[in-house]
Amino acid sequence: MRTVVCKNSREMSEKAAKMIESQVILAPSCVLGLPTGETPVETYRLLSEACEKGEVDFSGVKTYNLDEYYPMSPENAHSYRYFMEQNLFSRVNVKKENTHVLNGEAEDPDAECAAFEEMIEKDGGIDLQVLGIGENGHIGFNEPGASLYARTHLTTLTQSTRNANSRFFGSVSEVPERALTMGIGTVLKSKKILILASGAKKHKAVRRLLSGEVDTDYPATLLNLHSDVTLICDEAAFSSERIGVDIGGTNVKLCVLNDANETVFKTAVKTPGGSREDLLKLICGKCLEIMKERNIDAVGVGTPGIIENGLVTAVNLPFYKTDLCKEIGDALGLPVRVSNDASCAALAEKTCGAAKGFDNAVLLSLGTGVGGGLILGGRLYEGRGSAGEAGHFVLRAGGRKCACGKRGCFEQYASAGALARAAKKEAQKAPQSVLARLILENGGKAGGEIIKKAADAGCPSALAAIDAYSRSLALGIDGLAALLDPDVFVLSGGVSLLGDALINSVKKHIKCGLPVKRALLGNDAGAVGAALLQ
Ligand code: F6R
Repeated sequence: MRTVVCKNSREMSEKAAKMIESQVILAPSCVLGLPTGETPVETYRLLSEACEKGEVDFSGVKTYNLDEYYPMSPENAHSYRYFMEQNLFSRVNVKKENTHVLNGEAEDPDAECAAFEEMIEKDGGIDLQVLGIGENGHIGFNEPGASLYARTHLTTLTQSTRNANSRFFGSVSEVPERALTMGIGTVLKSKKILILASGAKKHKAVRRLLSGEVDTDYPATLLNLHSDVTLICDEAAFSSERIGVDIGGTNVKLCVLNDANETVFKTAVKTPGGSREDLLKLICGKCLEIMKERNIDAVGVGTPGIIENGLVTAVNLPFYKTDLCKEIGDALGLPVRVSNDASCAALAEKTCGAAKGFDNAVLLSLGTGVGGGLILGGRLYEGRGSAGEAGHFVLRAGGRKCACGKRGCFEQYASAGALARAAKKEAQKAPQSVLARLILENGGKAGGEIIKKAADAGCPSALAAIDAYSRSLALGIDGLAALLDPDVFVLSGGVSLLGDALINSVKKHIKCGLPVKRALLGNDAGAVGAALLQ
């Protein structure tokens, strides 16, 4: 299928009109199959304009319309005959006797349909069949479940189509329950097919069509069996976006990425303190709000904690063996992927941050805890679900007790707490130092910001604290380098805000000689990476 994506519906209409004009110019006595509906209105106007200017001549053209309500008088303003007269036939020089719209008043609808088919055959078949597409994938009035072989027939409309078309009537109850329509078999016999689709509400139908599948429950997909189909649609109908959710103990961050992996929207809300239900309700509510406005195809979720067989257990969140994919997926009706938050950050840095262009990268997130994400062979490596938990390999046998129950975990020597301990130790050694003064002013707390401030002022104690901390961090990095031999290490999280002072010090202490970089995406990495999960 040839696909032409236009900026907007105006451009779609212009391109469609040009294609129909070319057909008529190249074959002045061709047979056109035509749709009604909102989509082709502007195309018909442009064709009328071209005809008025003498750029195209419809005098030899024959037309067959796709469908008509049943029962329906041709004089009724809701009839498709009336629509065609208003929008095209009365405005171009097509001969009335060459225009064919099924008779919605036919006493014998079956005979009417058979005669319609016969006329198309007698005229040599349809050269160019123009189509719109229904939100449920209908073509003409071929509703889900349509037969591949069906020819023109009387059909019963689905509630979804009646609802969609009620915008042309006073209310849905006024929309006829039945219609006469060319069958899929009739449409597929056309020599060429042109499908038009515009607006976000056609996105799902366009995506199904482009998936290449053939499914009678989505009649438009049957067009994939035809060898000469052109789809002209606008960006709103074509482009798809993904939501990324980064669940943190303090905030839930959400972002939307477009096809080019650009962040087109982001927001954050406070993480509610209550139950799992409260947290999931908030996440799903926010996603549904976004989905009202945008063509969202999938959702990715990054969460702290352990993921085993898809079940999430996180100490700081109300998740215990929680199936986030299922719970969120069922509520949103979309595919949902879940991964560890540091894995998401690694994926984000690999795709559009500090590890871009590298096939093998290790991200270490240095904060309250130490997390890690692995990119191996260009892809996120998750093992059975929790690979990259760098914080919990043992760096020092019998070392400091860790919250996980073991002793000497890397986290104990590379977390923000470890940095704070190193800073306090240096401050004690030099009570007159800038570092010591700043810690005192901060109520005795040695936060990263304070250490950075002192280091930026050239305070030797702050630099010594960073140096001591970096020694342990470098030890861990060397261990990981021996195991994984990555192209690059990326440092993220609160401690990485120390910037060059940290990076230079780590580089000095590592033995592996591999590049160590600071993460570029900051606080957005988790949500961006979640949206990138596949
Ligand atoms: C109309 C027709 C329908 C429409 C479809 C889209 O003759 O056959 O299949 O093409 O319902 O309608 P709009 O363009 O109004 O969105």
